[in-house]
Amino acid sequence: MKTHLVSGGCGFVGRNMVKRLYYGTNDRIIFIDDLSVGLHPSMWLGLDLNSNIKDLELYGDNDRLVFLKGDFRYVVRQLIDKHDWFKSEYGLDVEHFEDVFHFAAIVGGRVKIDGDPMMVALDLSIDAEFFYWITRAKPTRVLYPSSSAAYPVNKQTEENTIQLRESDIDFNNMGQPDMTYGWTKLTGEYLAKIASEYYDVHITCVRPFSGYGEDQDYSYPVPAIARRAVHKENPFEVWGTGYQGRDFVHIDDVLDCIDVAMDKIGDGTAINIGMGKLTNFREIIKVFTGFAGYEPKIKQLLDKPVGVHSRYCNMDWVKENLGWEPKISIEEGMRRVYEAVMEKEKNS
Ligand SMILES: NC(=O)c1ccc[n+]([C@@H]2O[C@H](COP(=O)([O-])OP(=O)(O)OC[C@H]3O[C@@H](n4cnc5c(N)ncnc54)[C@H](O)[C@@H]3O)[C@@H](O)[C@H]2O)c1
Repeated sequence: MKTHLVSGGCGFVGRNMVKRLYYGTNDRIIFIDDLSVGLHPSMWLGLDLNSNIKDLELYGDNDRLVFLKGDFRYVVRQLIDKHDWFKSEYGLDVEHFEDVFHFAAIVGGRVKIDGDPMMVALDLSIDAEFFYWITRAKPTRVLYPSSSAAYPVNKQTEENTIQLRESDIDFNNMGQPDMTYGWTKLTGEYLAKIASEYYDVHITCVRPFSGYGEDQDYSYPVPAIARRAVHKENPFEVWGTGYQGRDFVHIDDVLDCIDVAMDKIGDGTAINIGMGKLTNFREIIKVFTGFAGYEPKIKQLLDKPVGVHSRYCNMDWVKENLGWEPKISIEEGMRRVYEAVMEKEKNS
């Protein structure tokens, strides 16, 4: 049986990927998360626990889903030490990994990015050990999620709002990315190129813009705004002026694009994943309060962290080179989030 590995597999992107791999293949998926932010599988997998092997939890048909709660760096160190550690420690027949998706990271939105930048800088440590390991283990394919935060912030101001193109990151002419978070992602992209060039690792980097989805937690703006609309908040609070814009893209589109990109890119090239459309927070509020059937007054919270003014992407390269375009419109995606939040609030 082939085995895929998902780090950060209980976080927002990770758990969507775990489910997609489980239902889309017959392969085994090992997913690792320290649950610092992520949710235990019992809360989102929708499957009963089959059994345990020591601290491993097995789920699904043929025990194809294997969850390990722990620091991904610990697992990586064991695997560096003993490439067949899953076999020697747990008796699992894993000699080689097929696709490896590295979603373990400290993310946390604006509050953490601006409020505790040195905690976010720990991503450098997680990524450094990860990259070292893949150059030893040589999985068949690797996905490194960079971020739109890697783009130079001076291209995202009120006076200079542009559709960010992949070429706006140039390692021979660097701009300043968004805080330590952006730096870790840029460093990751650089290491990905080295992994490909010097170690022949098949690796793909993606720069998702503002991913959102039904099961994202309330510390992220889209579900948080949806929840307040469900409760008919009025006046409706918005961080900053609310005219800051982002490129919101549904998680299903993000995963779809990753699929296509991994098939076609192996040299560490990084691509945008977005709608190519700028939507500001007032517009998001309008969509959700429209679903809720009211029109609130807007109350600006000018002391809240807001990040760059406008961040959105150009999707031409992806369309021309990968033949891929996003399929879920903002209206449809936000409707899905609104319905999921209504359901959650009804049961809470
Ligand atoms: N969600 C987006 O729109 C988006 C956009 C751009 C980039 N990304 C990138 O995608 C990746 C996943 O993002 P997300 O939105 O799912 O974040 P998330 O915070 O929901 O998930 C990250 C997961 O990693 C886990 N984790 C953190 N440190 C760990 C460690 N040392 N060992 C094991 N697990 C650990 C957390 O518990 C969490 O479950 C991140 O690298 C992020 O930068 C996401």
